[in-house]
Amino acid sequence: MKSLLRSVRARQVNPAPPRWEVAFGRAAVLEVDLGCGRGSYALERARRRPGLNIVALEARRKWVEKIRQRCRQENIANLRAIRCDVAQDLPLLFAPGSVGGFTIHHPDPWWKKRHRKRRLVRPELVRQLVELLEIGGWIYLQTDVPGLAVEARQCFTAQQQLRPLDARRHREEILGGIMSHRESKCRQLGIPLERLAYRKVGGGVKP
Ligand SMILES: C[S@@+](CC[C@H](N)C(=O)[O-])C[C@H]1O[C@@H](n2cnc3c(N)ncnc32)[C@H](O)[C@@H]1O
Repeated sequence: MKSLLRSVRARQVNPAPPRWEVAFGRAAVLEVDLGCGRGSYALERARRRPGLNIVALEARRKWVEKIRQRCRQENIANLRAIRCDVAQDLPLLFAPGSVGGFTIHHPDPWWKKRHRKRRLVRPELVRQLVELLEIGGWIYLQTDVPGLAVEARQCFTAQQQLRPLDARRHREEILGGIMSHRESKCRQLGIPLERLAYRKVGGGVKP
């Protein structure tokens, strides 16, 4: 998929995104985990919620292959792992209004000031997430990098169609409190986390 995406970008063509209901063999609510790493969260989400179609996106081939291997070993049919660059490829992968929820667990911090522009959660990405979400769909982000949470909140707040949710409650009630790998590490080390969650509403104007 990665080389296909690269060739599509190079040719500057805009193919229709995959029909995920065909890829999964059924229509179901689609959830997308961005920068899934080794996939601890996505795999557990797929095990606990077989009625969802879940797509886990990751830049590193190694983790994508491990997730696919685990899906085969455990017969997990409702999860696909795709190697891609989330910053560029979302519009090639998903149709507008087609995603029920996005999760972003611990996006890379890019600590150095000159590298900050590489951070994933930027205004352009958030605009894309909002476009790809169905009405009523949600975005959940957690991070152990306080400055990153501040930046992300600014990006989300700028979007007219997003309403803030109680992120802790969203994590417990909607996401079942599943921990990503990085979250487990943070918990072991006593590192505090910040959580943000938003829902897409219809129309474009904030009251
Ligand atoms: C800090 S790790 C967190 C992994 C996992 N979500 C967790 O919480 O354990 C960030 C992950 O995002 C991936 N990543 C960073 N930028 C990406 C991009 N533009 N496209 C796809 N994956 C990306 C990295 O390869 C890495 O696996």
